[in-house]
Amino acid sequence: MTTTTVRTQVGIVGAGPAGLWLAHLLAVAGIDSVVLERRSRVEIAATHRAGILEQGTVDLMAALGLDARMRAEGYAHHGIELRVAGEARRVDFADLVGRAVQLYPQQEVFSDLADGAAARGLDVRFEVADVAVHDLTSQAPSITFTDADGTPARLVCDFVAGCDGSRGIAKWAIPENVRTDHFREYPFGWFGILVEAPPSAPELIYAASDHGFALISQRTATTQRMYFQCDPTDRPDNWDDARIWDQLEACTAAPGFALTRGPIVDKTVIPMRSYVCEPMQHGRLFLAGDAGHTVPPTGAKGMNLAAGDVAVLARSLERFYRDGQHDLLDAYSATALARVWKAQHFSWWMTSMLHTHPGASTFDRRRQLGELDLVTTSRAGSTYLAEAYTGWPLIPTRPGFLDPDTALGAALASQLPAEAVTA
Ligand code: FAD
Ligand code: PHB
Repeated sequence: MTTTTVRTQVGIVGAGPAGLWLAHLLAVAGIDSVVLERRSRVEIAATHRAGILEQGTVDLMAALGLDARMRAEGYAHHGIELRVAGEARRVDFADLVGRAVQLYPQQEVFSDLADGAAARGLDVRFEVADVAVHDLTSQAPSITFTDADGTPARLVCDFVAGCDGSRGIAKWAIPENVRTDHFREYPFGWFGILVEAPPSAPELIYAASDHGFALISQRTATTQRMYFQCDPTDRPDNWDDARIWDQLEACTAAPGFALTRGPIVDKTVIPMRSYVCEPMQHGRLFLAGDAGHTVPPTGAKGMNLAAGDVAVLARSLERFYRDGQHDLLDAYSATALARVWKAQHFSWWMTSMLHTHPGASTFDRRRQLGELDLVTTSRAGSTYLAEAYTGWPLIPTRPGFLDPDTALGAALASQLPAEAVTA
């Protein structure tokens, strides 16, 4: 069979949030891209993952004109509850930092991005196979793949964006002698369930108890998402519904509180890992999102980090195509990693502070409770949590990073503090 050759400026591997956000941002900057995705649209839209969007991510959806459904169907949350040994301690984001987060499921973000891509005429190809990247250190890298109809194809491009998630292929194209894999595995996982019942509480509850950690989250007015700490090697069928409810009740017990029960329609075990690939670039390959780093979900940071990476990458590519300068592209990894490592710290910190660690001594446990007490009773402590949870700007706030005269500059300007926009 003859190979079809397609030409574009940026070849994007993966149509998760990172890949689709990047394609949209590049379109705003007048840069062409083709997105290649292994899975079907239906499969991606059925995968339960993130629930919380930082303020900056909400602003990004607005800047792309894709926020209507998110605002109508999602929920603004102005705080979270930390439940410490049965006592409710609210962290009030509105009061502490004047910001909020949005509860809106990742599948819905994906659907909005995919529908928006079709409306914008972006070239997104689902169900492709055999994706491989080539000649990344040349001026003309390429991606070979088999199209959904079985046709072998080659995408010739100027740059390759590896947005293919934690199990993708792109990062392995960075040679071992160039790449450092920073990795940490946690001795626990999360057991996640989806429940058909109205929310148990108006805001998310992060519960640290002697029975382990639990998170009570939500999806819609009639669906909840809940997690509890489990052995990372556990399997969904080891837990019948009665045992799941017993465990969740034990972790979240508090005076006057009751979980709203309903049919459990999905069960999964989620491993907890921290990972960073450094550098996040090699030649003309740039990694973004989970392809370059993963965080444990406790800080709700993963998808939000993807938004930051692609905002920086889109601006760096705009600078290259518009001004012929590769300074921002050269600095991409360092720029993106500055934000990534802050989020790595926050995610690790939330995870360590809230979970029961196997083999922990009484000293470890008392110290953990002391830390939770400090974070929830000191304004300085809770302000750090509120600032980190609601998120840092997606792009560096230094004057001059954006070009204010371009459509992309205007779209990303909402990320900057007012003084940086006028500077
Ligand atoms: P992905 O969403 O993984 O997308 C990568 C895409 O690339 C996939 O569609 C995949 O099919 C495709 N792909 C892979 N290999 C190839 C290949 N060889 N060729 C072509 N395509 C390929 N984040 C938050 O910000 N907030 C939260 O509240 C939050 N909660 C979470 C809860 C859970 C339980 C989990 C598991 C994660 C959570 N996250 C959260 C993290 C978030 O889901 C991820 O960080 C996010 O999906 C990363 O987006 P991405 O586009 O980088 O990667
Ligand atoms: C979710 O709703 O799935 C969710 C929310 C907050 C987290 C992790 C997951 O920290």
